Amino acid sequence: METSIGAPVSPALGYAPATVQPRVARHRTYLMCRPTHFTVSYAINAWMDPSVGVDTALAVAQWEEIRRTYERLGHTVHLLPEQAGLPDMVFAANGGFSVGGVFYGAQFTYPQRAAERFAHQDWYAGDGWPVVPGTFTNEGEGDFTYLPGRDLVLAGYGFRTDVRAHAEAGRVLGRAVVSLELVDPRFYHLDTALFVLDDQTICYFPGAFGEKTRELLAELFPGALLATEEDALAFGLNAVSDGLNVLLPASATGLAAPLEDLGYRTVLLADSELRKAGGSVKCCTAELRP
Ligand code: ARG
Repeated sequence: METSIGAPVSPALGYAPATVQPRVARHRTYLMCRPTHFTVSYAINAWMDPSVGVDTALAVAQWEEIRRTYERLGHTVHLLPEQAGLPDMVFAANGGFSVGGVFYGAQFTYPQRAAERFAHQDWYAGDGWPVVPGTFTNEGEGDFTYLPGRDLVLAGYGFRTDVRAHAEAGRVLGRAVVSLELVDPRFYHLDTALFVLDDQTICYFPGAFGEKTRELLAELFPGALLATEEDALAFGLNAVSDGLNVLLPASATGLAAPLEDLGYRTVLLADSELRKAGGSVKCCTAELRP
């Protein structure tokens, strides 16, 4: 899809930005893990069904397209070596969370993924990062995100990450943390319900959050783009934005239109296989914030 800066906004969209600002991409560095050993052999979220067949070669092809897209857009992608026996390792977002050159390591909720954290810790340590393993359950960027323009961490809880990890991450990373309650098991990680659009703004599906959290989000982000339940079910919130380009699942066509109207360029990516494990574009991507 092409950008439509300055295009008239349809009243049917339910929002009406006065002006469409020019969007600016900022160079990013990401960590990804090739899904060589990807499959669905256990069920730890509402989307996983081990009786459904997975085409691992197709998963690799879909993942390669995500990686190629980042590189085509000028971003740097590092690769975490994949390991047999860890089929969810492709979801590199869950291994930890970095801000300001410090890496706060994950502590997985389920034993099936527990060993992944060592691979992440080793990778960051080898890349020269101070590594602080979390002592409370937390699934990294699955439940943490950061807004540089506000110097603010947003953190989800309710299904995976222990709310005590929010305070711990805040101390380790030296940042204020806003805790957000997730209430719908279909949207079990923060990154299935909310993503950072640019340094100041977010896009989210209010229905995934508890009432108090919805009030808080409305207060903190009056300019946010609100997604519908349909967008969320299409995994549209599992998107990655560089400030201009937004990579999102091919099924999220309903969310692509308002993003384009706001001046973003959308890139729709096939994710049929990764989705069988309850993940998509963002889950495959950890941002490194030096
Ligand atoms: N099967 C994985 C799990 O349930 C999917 C993780 C998706 N990752 C994410 N960042 N939402 O843990």
